[in-house]
Amino acid sequence: MLRVQKANRIEGKVKVPGDKSISHRAVMFGALAEGTTTIEGFLPGADCLSTISCFRRMGIEIVQEEDRVTVHGKGWYGLQEPSQHLDVGNSGTTIRLLSGIMATQPFHVVMEGDESIAKRPMRRVVGPLRQMGAKIDGRKDGEFTPLAIRGGELKGIHYQSPVASAQVKSAILLAGLQAKGVTSVTEPHLSRDHTERMLQAFGVSVVRDGLTVSVEGGQQLKGRDIRVPGDISSAAFLIAAVMMVPGSSLLIENVGLNPTRTGIIDVVRAMGGSVELVNERVVNEEPVADLSVTYAELNGVEIGGEMIPRLIDEVPVIAVMATQAKGKTVIRDAQELKVKETDRIATVVSELSKLGAKVTPTDDGMIIEGPTPLTGSRIDSRGDHRIGMAMAIAGLAAAGETWIENDEAIAVSFPNFAQILAEICR
Ligand code: S3P
Repeated sequence: MLRVQKANRIEGKVKVPGDKSISHRAVMFGALAEGTTTIEGFLPGADCLSTISCFRRMGIEIVQEEDRVTVHGKGWYGLQEPSQHLDVGNSGTTIRLLSGIMATQPFHVVMEGDESIAKRPMRRVVGPLRQMGAKIDGRKDGEFTPLAIRGGELKGIHYQSPVASAQVKSAILLAGLQAKGVTSVTEPHLSRDHTERMLQAFGVSVVRDGLTVSVEGGQQLKGRDIRVPGDISSAAFLIAAVMMVPGSSLLIENVGLNPTRTGIIDVVRAMGGSVELVNERVVNEEPVADLSVTYAELNGVEIGGEMIPRLIDEVPVIAVMATQAKGKTVIRDAQELKVKETDRIATVVSELSKLGAKVTPTDDGMIIEGPTPLTGSRIDSRGDHRIGMAMAIAGLAAAGETWIENDEAIAVSFPNFAQILAEICR
């Protein structure tokens, strides 16, 4: 269990681990590319390690030492049929992106993961991949794991996605790279575009036209060196820590600032908090900067529409900040929260309420009223890394002690979270 005490102040200079989305993609694209790919700043969290182990099972040599990885790619069709099931652990990104890749391979594969993965919807990728010609089966007609895929020849499609999901978009584009003709995906709002950016870095041509992105079949990837920036979704917990404790300030170095990910900064600023960008630069097609974060009294805010995909993983910690903000915070259009590692509308409401917060669930989000004094309590991460971390941040403002049960889930995306928190708490 993780114990968090009420903090007097948050202060210091820190680095957060590598970006989870970019780390997954660097391993996958490196494995499919011709030649060697080296990755620096890789996130050695459980999810990205699941991606590595899946590709090792398909015969790809990958050397990983902490945040340095070397992938010996053998080209798109250099993968071997695995003799065992691929275990994706807790990682939705691994299973959904791999589904697109496996649909192109001339072999049979079964993919499964943990209890949480078994409850997450897969037809959002299985449906369009079947339209392209892939043979995929799974529980409830392909809605749930285990997924069994027999890949082969595919034809390009145009897919109008009902959800703004980078995992769906990426699965289809990856399949499209080996399909006949052009494959395109149109989304209702722009989701994170790391796949598009990194494919280009690996030498693939990707065309964007507004909310539509397309690729032509028959393209090969070339190995390259990738530097992964710090994960803004991990930095978000530390930004929130500053806003929970009056008088705090923090410098967070080397944070990825892809505009499809920076909703958290816009929201903290809209609430009255100060986040300044220092030393802005571009690393491997991705914008990066250091964040200078200073405490301010916050006000409630309304969030919805196209902002949601830009901060979807940050909603739990935004709810935590909202408990200390003056007035109402309303989060809408965020139904996707229900199909994350847990139903994050339900888990945020149940766990945050235990600390005394005023949070009401709605059909597509939640309403938080503040400011409310919080009291330390025993919280359950429910096996969801972001719920565990969000509640630990809440604990910084809660009287007494807060205990986080099932805190091992935090290692999915931020293995040294407790250590960094201890370093910056005064
Ligand atoms: C991710 C996409 C998002 C996000 C997840 C990582 C990715 O999921 O929530 O943590 O790396 O593509 P959706 O595609 O389901 O929105």
